[in-house]
Amino acid sequence: MNTGQQASIIARTPPMGWNSWNTFGANIDVQILYETIESILDTGLQEAGYEYVVLDDFWQADERVDGRLMWDHEKFPDGIKPLSDYVHSRGLKFGIYSCAGSYTCGGKPGSFGHEEVDAQTFADWGVDFLKYDYCHVPPGVDCVALYQRMGQALRSTRRPILFSICEWGHHQPWEWGARVGGHIWRTTGDINDCWESILDIGFNRQVSLEAYAGIGRWNDPDMLVVGMYGKGNEEVAQGGCTLAEYRSHFVLWCLLAAPLIIGCDVRNMDQATNDILCNHDLISINQDLLGCQGFRVGEMVHANEVAQVWAKPLLDGSIAVGLFNLGQRDNRLISVAWESLGLSSDRLCCVIDLCSSDELGVFRGVFSTYVESHDVAAVRLIPQYE
Ligand code: GLA
Repeated sequence: MNTGQQASIIARTPPMGWNSWNTFGANIDVQILYETIESILDTGLQEAGYEYVVLDDFWQADERVDGRLMWDHEKFPDGIKPLSDYVHSRGLKFGIYSCAGSYTCGGKPGSFGHEEVDAQTFADWGVDFLKYDYCHVPPGVDCVALYQRMGQALRSTRRPILFSICEWGHHQPWEWGARVGGHIWRTTGDINDCWESILDIGFNRQVSLEAYAGIGRWNDPDMLVVGMYGKGNEEVAQGGCTLAEYRSHFVLWCLLAAPLIIGCDVRNMDQATNDILCNHDLISINQDLLGCQGFRVGEMVHANEVAQVWAKPLLDGSIAVGLFNLGQRDNRLISVAWESLGLSSDRLCCVIDLCSSDELGVFRGVFSTYVESHDVAAVRLIPQYE
């Protein structure tokens, strides 16, 4: 049950959950969702903080009934409300998908011109999260006005519903997303399960967006592809990544204070994927209550090989730092100087490894470490008071 208190803190920290799109695309049904929910509970994902189960596109029938969106009866014979009730009975929250245009990206009925009735339908079904896409918008219609309309319709239901704006960053939603009631907004097009996509969306396209994020308002660089290994919805699963690449992807999303929405098939997740997704120290960085999105501190290019350092200030005064080797060569020495983080160079800092929780020692002025190709060293710098 949602209380008034929860209503005031939607997305206090970046939302965490699972979404059907990356793995299942159009082939999603109630059985897969039930199995996924069991796995979220059994594998420790719920305990780690993942709470939203989001049903993406292709849940709908081809036509409205009495003006209301209708579910696909083959995929969801009992409808959506019993599914939502079941999600809640397992201590999780339920998300659904619609679109600001006349049709969804998958060609199902969209919410254009039906915003109020659809928002009320979702509230009646107990929806806690609406992902709202941007396909098939009639020409000449203003993008911001459409999101404003659905944001208002959701608020009018008086149910606390996280509003996820998905117009792929085309109209700079970081500038107006929070104003129209959005809690998260996609900053780019769809992520693919390959290193090039992580490089482009994560390492290139999030630079300078940190000023727009904060408590209740987060930039969304799209869902996690961690653990897909090239399997799933073929629009997303393009070749797959190595474990090091998935680790870098997850560390960067944690530093970016990005929504952590899992996209792999959690029913068949391997241990290495589970370990990355449930890493308590990294999740704490993402969920830190200061609500500060990390930023790129610097980029070092040597013989065409790129390394980057990203940092995220934390509530307790410590700083999370990711040292990423984006190049092909192993054993790259990457450094972070205190001065680049606004710390005085004679300051002592205790350095903790965020992947192993090991204390690496106390350092003055700079920390350097060797990092393998496409991998990351993630550390927390704790300034010492001498
Ligand atoms: C768009 C979105 C995706 C997904 C699909 C569904 O491409 O960006 O995340 O929701 O639509 O059709």
